[in-house]
Amino acid sequence: MRLLKSLTIGFSAAVILAGCSAEGNDQGTEYAPNMYHSVAYEPYSQITDEDAGRWLTSIEYPATVEGGEGHAEYYNSNRFNPNRMNMRELPANTVRRNAQGWLPYRIPNDSTGLRLANRLKNPLDSSAQVLAAGKVLYETYCDHCHGAKGEGDGKVGAGITVDGVQKSAYAGVPNYKSDALRNISEGHIFHVITYGKNLMWPHGSQISPEDRWRIAKYVKTLQK
Ligand code: HEC
Repeated sequence: MRLLKSLTIGFSAAVILAGCSAEGNDQGTEYAPNMYHSVAYEPYSQITDEDAGRWLTSIEYPATVEGGEGHAEYYNSNRFNPNRMNMRELPANTVRRNAQGWLPYRIPNDSTGLRLANRLKNPLDSSAQVLAAGKVLYETYCDHCHGAKGEGDGKVGAGITVDGVQKSAYAGVPNYKSDALRNISEGHIFHVITYGKNLMWPHGSQISPEDRWRIAKYVKTLQK
């Protein structure tokens, strides 16, 4: 009896496993196929068999769903693109814009650039909301050197005295209210945040353009 049971199980297993052979373009029977095939559009996937995944699909793609048109789960091709790829290469010289539609900042980091930047208009308004956001950003990125009132007396700018010894001073942080800086424009400030200047390091990689403009607005209020 036991032998018969073992034989039956063994035979059934052999029959079932024989159905799993894979060759050429046939990947054989897959266990949990949605672990291998992505349902979402992936850039380089191009599953052109409209029935692929029909046998297990739990998702109905009615004709009313765009791109669905009755295809099964894994149909994943884009009929508008070459080779039915989902991704298209960008045209040459494409420039990425941010969510606001702004182009990347392209004014160069030199003295001519600083003069050009001086004439830029801040695209943000002077609403309380913008200024409040600017204040928070200023406190995060600038305060420790430039000080809460922009007088160059932040902890890092002024340094501290420990047991009579001056520590961690970052020399040369200016006062925003000095004659040299009182009249700088928001564009100038934006430029300096982006590229830094002399002893000040650049912050362009850490602070988004929008946030740099917010900070510039706030710095102007500190100069009053
Ligand atoms: C590590 C300290 C440090 C930090 C942080 C820092 N600065 Fe400065 N900043 C300086 C120093 C030092 C100078 C003087 C640069 C020089 O040598 O001309 C300066 C100069 C400036 C100037 C005057 C530029 C000019 O034309 O002379 C502005 C405006 C300015 N910083 C704004 C900012 C803002 C806004 C932030 C925050 C995003 C910031 N800084 C963060 C140290 C710092």
